Amino acid sequence: MGNIVQVKNLSMTFYNKEGELQVLNDMNFSLEEGEILTLLGPSGCGKSTILNILTKLLKPTNGDVVVNGNIGYMFQKDHLLEWRNIMDNITLGLEIQKKKTPEAIARVEELLKTYGLWEFRNMFPKELSGGMRQRVALIRTLSVNPDILLLDEPFSALDYQTRLLVSDDVYKIIRNENKSAILVTHDISEAISMSDKVAVLSKRPSTVKDIYTINLREDKDLTPLQTRKVPKFQDYFDKLWKEFDSNEVK
Ligand SMILES: Nc1ncnc2c1ncn2[C@@H]1O[C@H](COP(=O)(O)OP(=O)(O)OP(=O)(O)O)[C@@H](O)[C@H]1O
Ligand SMILES: [Mg+2]
Repeated sequence: MGNIVQVKNLSMTFYNKEGELQVLNDMNFSLEEGEILTLLGPSGCGKSTILNILTKLLKPTNGDVVVNGNIGYMFQKDHLLEWRNIMDNITLGLEIQKKKTPEAIARVEELLKTYGLWEFRNMFPKELSGGMRQRVALIRTLSVNPDILLLDEPFSALDYQTRLLVSDDVYKIIRNENKSAILVTHDISEAISMSDKVAVLSKRPSTVKDIYTINLREDKDLTPLQTRKVPKFQDYFDKLWKEFDSNEVK
């Protein structure tokens, strides 16, 4: 299978009144079709900037970004509109893109049924728990049928236990729907449990220090929670911890 995203020699400098700030320095990575890649990097290193460049919200200072497919972007906050019910929140993207066709609505209804949201469709966001809201946000992102999902710290607003459960859900949905995904996090365990590959980013100006292939799934159906119990998990954790930690001493 080929690369669905290719990032080559990507650099980004912001210019503003206070001067210039180089955020990304000569970054290289790729995402293969069907793969989940995690960008693991410290706070403020430019992770969201990378996603904004991939969606073309920002233009890079240097380098090439090739994206072979349409993108669905899921933010750290769920950005649900409190005055719209769940169904109307989920179809918002379709409305904006003028794609709210009967086929698209049927697809959304199918997603709601498959992922346990059907009976919530007439409720309002404030009636749902944080975990459920994130699930709604993911279904909304999926409603426009993107090839590639970009997930920017989607679990960081959740308490620890919910976070583990929701990441299991999100993982299963990504795999079930055969999506390719780039996940952004600064949580080492989350990175290992969710991904096929982990790119470790350095502090700003950030570059890709190393890319690890995670082979924890001889059994393909293991969920993130289950992979945390595979003995090799700790080896990956130790390696990534060392690499991530060396950010601080350099
Ligand atoms: N439009 C902009 N203009 C100027 N500086 C910016 C702009 N966007 C981001 N920055 C700066 O670039 C740096 C990287 O920001 P970015 O949000 O990409 O980091 P991040 O890794 O996503 O951080 P976090 O972990 O806090 O989400 C920060 O210092 C930020 O203040
Ligand atoms: Mg960010």
